Amino acid sequence: MRLGVNIDHVATLRNARGADYPDLLRAALAAEAGGSDLITVHLREDRRHIRDADVTRLLAEQKLPINLEMAVTVEMQQIALDARPTAVCLVPERRQELTTEGGLDALKLGAGLGEFVRPLRAAGIAVSLFLDPDPAQIQAAQQAGAAAVELHTGGYAHAKHGELARLQDAAAQVRALGMACHAGHGLTFANVHEIAAIPQVEELNIGHFLVSEAVFVGLTAAVAEMKRLMMVARGGI
Ligand code: PXP
Repeated sequence: MRLGVNIDHVATLRNARGADYPDLLRAALAAEAGGSDLITVHLREDRRHIRDADVTRLLAEQKLPINLEMAVTVEMQQIALDARPTAVCLVPERRQELTTEGGLDALKLGAGLGEFVRPLRAAGIAVSLFLDPDPAQIQAAQQAGAAAVELHTGGYAHAKHGELARLQDAAAQVRALGMACHAGHGLTFANVHEIAAIPQVEELNIGHFLVSEAVFVGLTAAVAEMKRLMMVARGGI
């Protein structure tokens, strides 16, 4: 099971002062030292944390695969086709939101989503869709040609009743439809166990908590502890 460390909020801290630190490349290397398998960044339309030059530098100067989270826009599609990250995760985006608030509405996007995914796939980029654990949305992801679905764990993280069972059912559906199953949003040391224990889930993307924990123990130690908890949940050491 892979851990993708989302380093957006290292950039949030940097941008708060318009400084050139903390350095994103150093953050990626620290995450790698803790056992991160990939680096996840969300290039938002308003560039509030990650910027275009960050993506270019991370791709050029460190060796972990990059998972680029992005909105379904022509601008972002072109950036991905130029930059060629290992993977992209398509997310909904609203300007005023504090963070991604829900899954993508793959049903509403309909056939247009398949057209959006096609050139990315043709360029060898693995496309995942960030979705709520909703059977109709998962079906739509398969029709759009997605390689993976990242299940939105925000509802579970906020202790919504019944949410774990929905995620378990959704993960089984994603795999049965031949897609890879990822999960993320709002995961912490306290709540990662049950999500990491879902057998079909092969990748978790975790950001805000790890960067917060890094304030106290450092990013390498925070990532190493998260990875350890994931492995324990999976029946490892
Ligand atoms: N996955 C996706 C698609 C996201 O948009 C985010 C937030 O940027 C995350 C995972 C990570 O969420 P968190 O920062 O709450 O760990």
